[in-house]
Amino acid sequence: MSLKIIILAAGQGKRMHSDLPKVLHPLAGKPMLQWVIEAAEQLRPAAIHVIHGHGGECVRQQFAHAHVNWIEQSEQLGTGHAVAQALPYLDADDQVLVLYGDVPLISVLTLQRLHQSTPKQALGLLIATLAEPYGLGRILRNQQGEIIAIIEEKDATESQRSIKEIFSGILLVPAQKLHCWLPQLNAHNAQGEYYLTDIVKFAVAEKMPVTSVMTDYPQEIYGINSRVQLIALERHYQSRLAEQLMAQGVTIMDPLRFDVRGTLQVGKDVTIDNNVLFEGEVIIGSHCYIGPNCVVKNSVIGDHVEIKANTVVEQASIQANCSIGPFARVRPGTQLAEGVKIGNFVELKQAVVGSQSKINHLSYIGDAEIGREVNIGAGTITCNYDGVNKHLTRIEDHAFIGSNTALVAPVVIGKKAFIGAGSTITKAAPAGKLSLSRSKQLCIPDWQPPRPMNKEPEYNG
Ligand code: UD1
Ligand code: CA
Repeated sequence: MSLKIIILAAGQGKRMHSDLPKVLHPLAGKPMLQWVIEAAEQLRPAAIHVIHGHGGECVRQQFAHAHVNWIEQSEQLGTGHAVAQALPYLDADDQVLVLYGDVPLISVLTLQRLHQSTPKQALGLLIATLAEPYGLGRILRNQQGEIIAIIEEKDATESQRSIKEIFSGILLVPAQKLHCWLPQLNAHNAQGEYYLTDIVKFAVAEKMPVTSVMTDYPQEIYGINSRVQLIALERHYQSRLAEQLMAQGVTIMDPLRFDVRGTLQVGKDVTIDNNVLFEGEVIIGSHCYIGPNCVVKNSVIGDHVEIKANTVVEQASIQANCSIGPFARVRPGTQLAEGVKIGNFVELKQAVVGSQSKINHLSYIGDAEIGREVNIGAGTITCNYDGVNKHLTRIEDHAFIGSNTALVAPVVIGKKAFIGAGSTITKAAPAGKLSLSRSKQLCIPDWQPPRPMNKEPEYNG
């Protein structure tokens, strides 16, 4: 029996009021549907079928690399009708898991539990008990406590509505039964839809076992219909992640102002100050401090690194004992060796900086290779772009670059070279020598300070 997964994602998501199909709206930086596809993939199914509807093309484009089969449901006639679109792809001996594209936090462990505890010839339902079950299908049981039906909110009597046990929408069923039952569904109900949930009645009539698995983590079955719900789930996800990280030894000054849109791996004794955003894949060593209002994206940060307030780091590798910021911008391709100091209003791009070097104030260093223990004075700029091509600046070990220097690339500054402040360097600066280019200072001895205009004697021509 092989497992096939059907992800229902054809709903329009009208309540999002969006040009973007609902399942493409991101949770923690990742489209909802991607969360579901990734969870599905981890179950190693024989196939994943995604039922899409409106805006299908743009959904498919976004997942061009996913190994999924796209099936269009041109009219949204209900969940039963949606699953029926996949029937041609289901073999009699398949077991089918139905997931929703707008239930992003479903956990693989729960799905595995459902898979393992549902006998091959049973209908297995993922259910929950919710304090506020409004809008959801309720689980009806007989006096023996066996499940006999799922009743939708809109079709339920008042007493049925008081039931707190609900259906998550996720179920496991033999494909053979879907082939037999789905063509028998009708839309004689309050919503005029073909309800997938009606298959429970068929199973009961055939005396096929209906089993259930209860989730103890209700957020994993939350379906998203509006932006308010999406952001509520986002905040839940972020604060849970913050709690997990704190449990592992990370101090997060305010879990309500902490966001990870991707994956974050952190060592011990790291403090993350308020309002920090991590994006993509970020790895941080131990004993680091990330100051307030920083953004760190796709970067690797070593031990004992301090990233001070308002610093943005992207696609960089930063080794131990570096100090960066406040107000620094570290752009892609930057590699900082141990103990580098980057100060305020410094922008780095494709800069490889050797250990213990300092770029402390107001500089732009792009397309540069900088040796060790180099000191770059305030306001130093690499003129790396001639309007067409980018050129390299190489600064060798122990060089000292005076403030307000323009290094016109391609150019090489030799070991222990000294560059006088205010220079525009266009030629190689030899090792161990002072190079400077600076116009001579003048003094005008008979210079008079300007006088206010209205105090001047009148001019009569
Ligand atoms: C459904 C269940 C309900 C359950 C609830 C959990 C039915 C009849 N009811 O409710 O018991 O408690 O989920 O959230 O199954 N979709 C399609 N095509 C369609 C209709 C829906 O792809 O024609 C997709 C939607 O995009 C969504 C999912 O199926 O991802 C569920 O649809 P939705 O309308 O939200 O579910 P309900 O019918 O409200
Ligand atoms: Ca719903």
